[in-house]
Amino acid sequence: MKSATTTIIVSIVTLVSFSIPTGAVEDGQAIENGKSVSEQQCSRCHVVGDYNPNGGISSTPSFQLMVNALDDYEERFDTFYIRPPHPAVIVVEGIKKRDDLPFNAAPVKLTQKDVENIAAFVKTLKNK
Ligand code: HEC
Repeated sequence: MKSATTTIIVSIVTLVSFSIPTGAVEDGQAIENGKSVSEQQCSRCHVVGDYNPNGGISSTPSFQLMVNALDDYEERFDTFYIRPPHPAVIVVEGIKKRDDLPFNAAPVKLTQKDVENIAAFVKTLKNK
């Protein structure tokens, strides 16, 4: 009887400790996806980490500059798609596009998950 109780406790402890790395794996996946979507969709205008150090257009701040120099970078990355000039080129699925802006560049289409993943990825650009 005593050993059955011990077995149950060991099982619970094992389950709990196995569920912790699962969260880390999901975070890892979000970062990986956010990195990939940032490199594909944002590097046209921004320098994104070490993906395109000599790229970007001169009117844009690099991702690493924003993450390291601005205290409110997380809020900016959570809402970048409503901050000019992005509404002119970026559409997030399920969020209504403002259509009173000039449409003068090839559109970028993202999912809301992509936006969350980008926010997870840029945190990795923070200097330790
Ligand atoms: C068509 C060019 C273009 C693309 C594509 C683009 N950006 Fe930007 N972004 C800009 C410009 C220009 C600024 C600077 C705006 C300013 O100084 O007011 C900017 C600024 C930002 C800012 C700071 C905004 C603020 O108001 O503080 C964030 C965050 C950002 N971009 C994220 C992104 C992300 C994430 C992507 C990819 C999904 C992306 N951008 C794609 C041109 C672009």
